[in-house]
Amino acid sequence: MKKFVQVGCGIRGIEGYAEPIIKEFSEHIQLCGVYDINKKRAALVSYYGGVEVPVYDDFDEMLREVKPDTVIVTTKDSMHDFYVIKALEAGCDVIVEKPMTTTFDKANAIKEAEEKSGKKVTVVFNLRYLPFFVTVKELMRSGVIGEVLSVHFEWLLSTHHGADYFRRWHRIRENSGSLLVHKSTHHFDLVNWFLEDDPVAVNAFGTRRFYGPTREKRSERCLTCEYKTTCEYFLDIHEPPMDKLYLECEDADGYIRDKCIFSEEIDIEDSVSVNVLYKKGAVMSYSLTAHSPYEGMRIAFNGTGGRLEFCKMDRRYAEFGKGINNVISIFDREGNKTVINAPQDAEGGHGGSDEKIRKNLFIGCTEDPLGQMADTRAGMMSIGIGMAANVSMKENRRVCLDEFYKDL
Ligand SMILES: NC(=O)c1ccc[n+]([C@@H]2O[C@H](COP(=O)([O-])OP(=O)(O)OC[C@H]3O[C@@H](n4cnc5c(N)ncnc54)[C@H](O)[C@@H]3O)[C@@H](O)[C@H]2O)c1
Repeated sequence: MKKFVQVGCGIRGIEGYAEPIIKEFSEHIQLCGVYDINKKRAALVSYYGGVEVPVYDDFDEMLREVKPDTVIVTTKDSMHDFYVIKALEAGCDVIVEKPMTTTFDKANAIKEAEEKSGKKVTVVFNLRYLPFFVTVKELMRSGVIGEVLSVHFEWLLSTHHGADYFRRWHRIRENSGSLLVHKSTHHFDLVNWFLEDDPVAVNAFGTRRFYGPTREKRSERCLTCEYKTTCEYFLDIHEPPMDKLYLECEDADGYIRDKCIFSEEIDIEDSVSVNVLYKKGAVMSYSLTAHSPYEGMRIAFNGTGGRLEFCKMDRRYAEFGKGINNVISIFDREGNKTVINAPQDAEGGHGGSDEKIRKNLFIGCTEDPLGQMADTRAGMMSIGIGMAANVSMKENRRVCLDEFYKDL
């Protein structure tokens, strides 16, 4: 039986990996050890999993002792490269959460380490498994709108979900590479995958005018805030699972999960507008808004043979999209409109996509006709757009990916 270990035991690490491995995949693989800089949080793997999993004080010691086949990396984004490279050097395959990493240098280093090791890095892009996006992929592959000429893509994060990125480590660029890397990596990967093309050049603008020090009534954190009864963004960290995962583990590392979203410390954008040129010639306009009254996305592909467009709302806001939500519309050049009611999200994490990808990750997949399993290259291309956008905003210029990625 293959031996797995995991580094990073936060909400994603436990709910998305450790717990399901123990409870659903124990006939196929064994979780032989976990490591996190917060040992208390790492110990919660045994609590949630219901069986004792060894907690290590040191990542290298875990590798030496267990000699795992595969290492799962679910730490904060900026540490992914550190553990991915160590795991490869120890002769292990790696499963790493999105974004693969946060800078061009780190991405190149992962690629180099992978090539040297002869082992394999898989980047987890669970949205490729969402039934809705699978339908879009199949339609795009069928050539229903011909060659794609342009893409218009809007992703909206509600103030329920979007605000959460401004409470935690994500709000510091150094940790997450900004939302353009941390969050948009999902979106850029979808477009790269739908188009089966590579981005070559990026131009971007970004601002932060909603979160950050935009109001006087702010504090260090929600728990002790004097405005907690009136602030519409108050987060109760006593609510499970936040109490166990974060509040009760704070004394071990000082990770505060409910920091004020109006803090001066925040240095990432909350509104971005990005233009991308693809190798085969398609152009994309993309925007991410992290402070919307509702959550969802709209996308339109304009092709030589017509247009394909759809809208997808987060289930909490489905009512707002009545009539257009989950509907794929295709317009041909003869004036016909075809409407396809795409499959609804399934039960489970991220519309059922987590369950599907886990089967491939933990049992293995012999066939992958839609190319859903993502490798280092796909990881690099999706973050490449976000990182190039960061450079574009900083240096006020158009940025080409091959300035940073060689031989891809
Ligand atoms: N694919 C998805 O849909 C999805 C969803 C959520 C999170 N994620 C990804 O999962 C990862 C974890 O996110 P999360 O929401 O669980 O965050 P989290 O803050 O809950 O967990 C991060 C964990 O990393 C640990 N950590 C931080 N620095 C470390 C270090 N130097 N060494 C070892 N451990 C360290 C922290 O103690 C914490 O336990 C991120 O990369 C995120 O992008 C992916």
